[in-house]
Amino acid sequence: MELIRKRLAKELTSQLYTHCDGVAETAARLAVQLGCDTEKATLAGLLHDCAREWSPEKLLRYAAENDIEVDILLESNPMLLHGPVGAHLAQSMGVSDDDILSAVRCHTLGCPGMSLLAQIIYVADKIEPGRFYPGIKDLRNAVARNFNEGLIQCASKSIFYVVQNKQAIHPLTITFYNWLVRKTGE
Ligand SMILES: [Fe+2]
Ligand SMILES: [Fe+2]
Repeated sequence: MELIRKRLAKELTSQLYTHCDGVAETAARLAVQLGCDTEKATLAGLLHDCAREWSPEKLLRYAAENDIEVDILLESNPMLLHGPVGAHLAQSMGVSDDDILSAVRCHTLGCPGMSLLAQIIYVADKIEPGRFYPGIKDLRNAVARNFNEGLIQCASKSIFYVVQNKQAIHPLTITFYNWLVRKTGE
């Protein structure tokens, strides 16, 4: 873990590293509350944006070279690839735990059936202490009251953001949202 922390501190801008550190801390706190592995939560939080600052060209090239699926929507918005590319990169850094890798992979678009660890990273990414955007206080309160409700609110807010910016919603995000609603209604 310390080697990875050092590598990330060197490779990421200090702004992004601070965000990743905030996600790691928030994820560890949620993991304690929800009975999830705190070490895994910390590591997944640190790693989740390891490819976030790559250029679109670099993301597309890396995906092509490593058999990472790129559909039309990802091709037109390669930044979204930083989840799957980041997971692959994390594996090349020596991380072999599937749960951690899939939490990194799923944090951008969401994924139906995602594990508790992946849900924690998805939420921590939206509410870590360094984040400031309208409505974040409500989101933090919702997560504190009821994690599942907070998770749905995080997903709704992301979808609203995409719609407001007149961008296409990735089908994976829609199946993720539908899964969340069904899961919570059960
Ligand atoms: Fe990200
Ligand atoms: Fe992030």
